[in-house]
Amino acid sequence: VEETYIMIKPDGVQRGLVGEIISRFERKGFKLTGLKLFQCPKELAEEHYKDLKTKPFFPKLIEYITSGPVVCMAWEGVGVVASARKLIGATNPLQAEPGTIRGDLAVQTGRNVVHGSDSPENGKREIDLWFKEGELCQWVHVQAPWLRE
Ligand code: GTP
Ligand code: MG
Repeated sequence: VEETYIMIKPDGVQRGLVGEIISRFERKGFKLTGLKLFQCPKELAEEHYKDLKTKPFFPKLIEYITSGPVVCMAWEGVGVVASARKLIGATNPLQAEPGTIRGDLAVQTGRNVVHGSDSPENGKREIDLWFKEGELCQWVHVQAPWLRE
């Protein structure tokens, strides 16, 4: 089944938005399979964002992501990757629609409170990168029959 890596960035933690953000994915109907508060080492942040290595903002991005604890999450569900990106909203929070996490809770690209994988392949890659074996939980989602016919 499809899975995505969602991460509350240090600004989301510092601003007290952890519960609010987790709640949005929970209420949508996805299944949480991994969750931890984590202070990210520089090497991990660089590996996670390796596709952006040549961008001018890369050093600032790494500084931002490593500036405080992040909340790492793995979420599972049919279509979860694209749906999570919709719930999160556009990269620039000023362009993100109201109702999305960034649209409701952020004002700048460099402080956009949350990350979501951009493809199922990257979902797997990022979950493998951020979680160790034994940190993920497989469990029966009892809501399942009430979420899909
Ligand atoms: P993520 O879910 O975090 O991957 O965001 P995204 O997929 O919406 O955007 P992208 O992968 O292109 O960029 C990753 C992150 O780099 C963004 O979420 C921002 O935090 C940061 N970023 C992207 N573009 C800029 C920029 O122009 N300036 C700054 N300061 N940060 C940027
Ligand atoms: Mg991205």
